[in-house]
Amino acid sequence: MNSVVAVAHPNIALIKYWGKRDEVLHLPMTTSLSLTLREFPTTTRVTQRPDLTADHVTFAGARAPEAFAARVSRFLDLVRELSGDPRHAVVDTVNTVPTGAGLASSAAGFAALALAAGTAYGLDLDRRALSRLARRGSGSASRSVFGGFAVWWRGEDVGDAGDLSSFAEPIDAPLLDPALVVALVDTREKTVPSREAMRRTMATSPFYPPWVAESARDLDRMRKALHEGDLATVGDIAEANALGMHATMLGARPAVRYFAPGTYRVLDRVLELRASGIGAWATMDAGPNVKVLCDSRDSAAVAAAVAEVVGGAARTVVTTAGPGAVVSDDGNR
Ligand code: DP6
Repeated sequence: MNSVVAVAHPNIALIKYWGKRDEVLHLPMTTSLSLTLREFPTTTRVTQRPDLTADHVTFAGARAPEAFAARVSRFLDLVRELSGDPRHAVVDTVNTVPTGAGLASSAAGFAALALAAGTAYGLDLDRRALSRLARRGSGSASRSVFGGFAVWWRGEDVGDAGDLSSFAEPIDAPLLDPALVVALVDTREKTVPSREAMRRTMATSPFYPPWVAESARDLDRMRKALHEGDLATVGDIAEANALGMHATMLGARPAVRYFAPGTYRVLDRVLELRASGIGAWATMDAGPNVKVLCDSRDSAAVAAAVAEVVGGAARTVVTTAGPGAVVSDDGNR
């Protein structure tokens, strides 16, 4: 019996992935750039079972919701196709992200699944190939293969050429010691899933093409700022890129709006922090929660300031830069 456990962590994009040019291969419209977190690992065990006629998927020890199980099984179909090994598997996933924290659990989830399944099915993937495989589960998962800052290249063309050229790789930023303070504004399930929101934005928003063009410039400037250890420039670009992404959604027909009243309170507080001389910059994904980028030295002060407007310390989570996906030795028997 072949059983492999892998662990991966969520990542937060500082230059966002928003829109696909190929829905099947998950080829993005833009190159994105993220920070993988030290907190909230997802641990996934894949056990091949020749006796099963279908995959069996559990989530936190209980039978997984159907949509989740179907998505995992479709991903395993791809692994079976690549490996030529038709066996079904038991997949056990344990996720430590606080529910509804807006910390893209699919990124950690598919990075861990790609590594555990790829290893169990003997795919012998290097990191680049693993990133391409994780991308097929969820685009942002391509970045969680790597620790720290990572860039996910949009790649060129479609089909095989696109598939081969769209992968993530790490970016060195030895001068930086970043933290992200997650402000939990609203932890309810989001109203529009990000896949649907991306599609609608691309199809109907007049603001989408200019955001795509600006994103390429954001990327060049952010890579330079990371290299130079210039957190203020990294933060300014991240905030503008994220708010720009939300502007593309507001321009969609019908509009997709993830901002809640508490979102604005946090965004205002971030401006106040900057005005008071503390470096803090906001980014948001497909939900109302805000992640505030700052230097690790300032994370306690930023978290305290943000807690005042979100309703207490329990609603803020401080995170720092973390590792890439790994096979967990002690989990394997
Ligand atoms: C707003 O990676 O979850 O968090 O590829 O359709 O699974 P799929 O989307 P997903 O989208 C993440 C979008 C985002 C921005 C980002 O993480 O770059």
